[in-house]
Amino acid sequence: MPIILDKVSHIYGQDTNTPVKALNNINLVIPDGQFIGIIGHTGSGKSTLVQHLNGLMKATAGNIYFNGEDIDDDDFDKKKLRSKVGLVFQYPEHQLFETDVFTDVCFGPKNLGLSKTEVELRAYEALKLVGLDDEYFYQSPFELSGGQKRRVAIAGVLAMKPQVLVLDEPTAGLDPKGRDEILEQISKLKKETGITVILVSHSMDDVARYVERIIVMNRGCVVYDDAPREVFRYYRELEEIGLAAPQVTYMMKDLQEHGYDVSDNVTTIDEAKDEIMRYFTRLAAAKKGNG
Ligand SMILES: Nc1ncnc2c1ncn2[C@@H]1O[C@H](COP(=O)(O)OP(=O)(O)OP(=O)(O)O)[C@@H](O)[C@H]1O
Ligand SMILES: [Mg+2]
Repeated sequence: MPIILDKVSHIYGQDTNTPVKALNNINLVIPDGQFIGIIGHTGSGKSTLVQHLNGLMKATAGNIYFNGEDIDDDDFDKKKLRSKVGLVFQYPEHQLFETDVFTDVCFGPKNLGLSKTEVELRAYEALKLVGLDDEYFYQSPFELSGGQKRRVAIAGVLAMKPQVLVLDEPTAGLDPKGRDEILEQISKLKKETGITVILVSHSMDDVARYVERIIVMNRGCVVYDDAPREVFRYYRELEEIGLAAPQVTYMMKDLQEHGYDVSDNVTTIDEAKDEIMRYFTRLAAAKKGNG
């Protein structure tokens, strides 16, 4: 169920003395099954953008289509949209409230009016998808670590069986280990379910490793929208808007500048390793040829 944004703008406080244009004429097509990163400096409009995808915010101008239907049409079922496009807010653990983890994850599907068995089955599956062990299911969510709480909150959205999962800064406030674990888990659930995943982040390093497409936001506009390696070609322009290419891309550029014949078209540590190994293999072959 693709989502299309057609010239979408959003102005906060339109009728006040201090209106803020948070989104400016956004055109986007989000097809089924993509893994997308949305990157931008603080205040660039990322959270505003993603809250339009499930109809939580209404565009000031422009149209949003879900599966070909305009979501602002009178007869469009917004409640259904919210279950199809699951949005995990920044610091979602603040919204956990039930006495135990399992009951909390049941909350969403229960509201969809499903049978008790179906609700519990979905909650169980969702908790498995986020990699939470059974031993935590009947604990209070407040006794869990930061990373575990976040998994529970993500499971709560997954239990609605969304076709699109949007995560707004899912690694914010986690330590490096918690950050890597949650990103690995998101990547794994993407592979297992095949749903569309949209990951909002400040960090190119986080996003580059996982996504197939990066949307770069600046001042409410989409400035780049392409495969990671294509976007990182513009690393100087990215720096000007407070962003950067992944650290390995810079390392490869340094090697090039020092005369090593390696490609800088590299965005992950694994790709850098392969490229450096290729260089040494070529070097060894050349030496052999000469000797
Ligand atoms: N409720 C609001 N009222 C007025 N202005 C707002 C409101 N929410 C956000 N803004 C403004 O809209 C712009 C976009 O904000 P938004 O929260 O979408 O950015 P963001 O990219 O998600 O930032 P961050 O990385 O800090 O989460 C900013 O200038 C922000 O100050
Ligand atoms: Mg935000």
